[in-house]
Amino acid sequence: MTKQEQQLTQIISYASAALANDKTGHDLAHLKRVASLVEKLHQECDFDLFIALSAAYLHDVIDDKLFANPATQLAKLKEFLVALDLDATQITAIEDIITHMSFAHSLEQEVNLSIEGQIVQDADWLDAIGAIGITRAIYFGGAHHEKIYDLTMKPRQNMSKEEYRNLDNETIINHFYEKLLLLKNKLNTSAARKLAAHRHQVMLDFLSEFKAEWDGQR
Ligand code: ADP
Ligand code: NI
Repeated sequence: MTKQEQQLTQIISYASAALANDKTGHDLAHLKRVASLVEKLHQECDFDLFIALSAAYLHDVIDDKLFANPATQLAKLKEFLVALDLDATQITAIEDIITHMSFAHSLEQEVNLSIEGQIVQDADWLDAIGAIGITRAIYFGGAHHEKIYDLTMKPRQNMSKEEYRNLDNETIINHFYEKLLLLKNKLNTSAARKLAAHRHQVMLDFLSEFKAEWDGQR
């Protein structure tokens, strides 16, 4: 194994341990799917695969919706990366990606991600749409006691990060209109946009079938 392969193996173990108790759809399987989408995008785009894969595996270990104290999580992660002998430039590159790539963060400010950051964000957003995205939204919504659907609750628009994270009046179906259907047009790379087209259609088909059944038309 090369040094980078060994480092990546350790990074995967670290992420896996950090997210071992997750019951909201941010588990190791999510990280592996994001990593394999990064590899798929690498067939079409030129970027530093080691940095992108490292960030793909680490992007949720400092997340404020999963951890009460994200700053502590970040400090621990940086200590780990130093001990793993990543150099300062690599650590900064990874930190810059994982602290800026989330959808929630993108609601607050325009971000200028590195090419590796754009790729990891695209991969993460591809895993939030399509059949897997539908399943994750339902799983997350169930974990947070969201209603399934309520015609009197309209999807929210122009939310701040704080509003987005407030699930008091959220429904699973509204999440599609508040985030999932918007992702197609927010992707950074044309390679990701190509993969998103089919996944987006799967969600549209699902929503129209859902509404037809809800309304008693089927
Ligand atoms: P980010 O970390 O990029 O801000 P999110 O927290 O928005 O990402 O989403 C992570 C996963 O959780 C996604 O698959 C998303 O669809 C799901 N999710 C987030 N918020 C909700 C919600 N209000 N209802 C259902 N699923 C949600
Ligand atoms: Ni993710």
